[in-house]
Amino acid sequence: MPTFPAPDRKSVTTLDLIAWKQAGRKIVATTAYDALFGRLVDESGVDVVLVGDSVNQVIAGEPSTLSATVDQMIYHARMVRRGVQKALLVVDMPFLSYQVNRDDALRNCGRVMKETGAQAVKVEGGQIIAATVRALVDAGIPVMGHIGLTPQSVHALGGYKVQGRGDVAAERLVADAAALEEAGCFAVVLELVPAALSERLSTTLEIPTIGIGAGAGCDGQVLVLPDLLGLNDAFKPKFLKRYANLADEVRTALGAFAADVREGRYPDAEHSF
Ligand code: KIV
Repeated sequence: MPTFPAPDRKSVTTLDLIAWKQAGRKIVATTAYDALFGRLVDESGVDVVLVGDSVNQVIAGEPSTLSATVDQMIYHARMVRRGVQKALLVVDMPFLSYQVNRDDALRNCGRVMKETGAQAVKVEGGQIIAATVRALVDAGIPVMGHIGLTPQSVHALGGYKVQGRGDVAAERLVADAAALEEAGCFAVVLELVPAALSERLSTTLEIPTIGIGAGAGCDGQVLVLPDLLGLNDAFKPKFLKRYANLADEVRTALGAFAADVREGRYPDAEHSF
């Protein structure tokens, strides 16, 4: 069994997130997929680091999250674990690793917890997976829920669209959120949900809501790291705010390196032995 570096500062726990909601302190979350960015994210003071199955799109270049595997998530989570000391580390469970039956879910989530050193898993879906969430929580596995636009169901939902519009869809989301809280989730991600509905959910639930494209009323916010850093510059959804334009920086830096090499400016005396 792998060993992991011991945290050298007080780590964020699932209980902290609930306490922060009660205190009105917003929760900051982002994704990471390797040790390098895990460390940078952790040093920046982010509260929650999610090893998202978005890795399958933004890093592996696949068109959706659907083909992500448990082994792939474990591989990335182990790298991130080596970089993260303080933030709460949550690992996304990939498509069909928890939906088939409870035994499968327990085995796969248990594997992720044992083999990565993460503190929690995240699963998509509401009422339909509440019994599975309860079984995981009863086994001692902290679970973060994820409702609204659930990317693993993108084909069933007809695309990456805002969810919970209209009374019937809104009431379904309210029931889904309540079922996840009742089943023992410590937090729930709301993805692409109208702001007024997210605010209602955040007021009703005792557990924190973490929004992505879900407005300002959530108890916290999450953005996918390469998106917020402007590395994934082809992705331009309305909700995304870019806090840097690293894709441009990368292209500029590599252009300068190439020009220096081709024109004989690198390496110079300063960079030679
Ligand atoms: O996979 C992921 O990165 C996610 C976030 C969008 C919340 O689920």
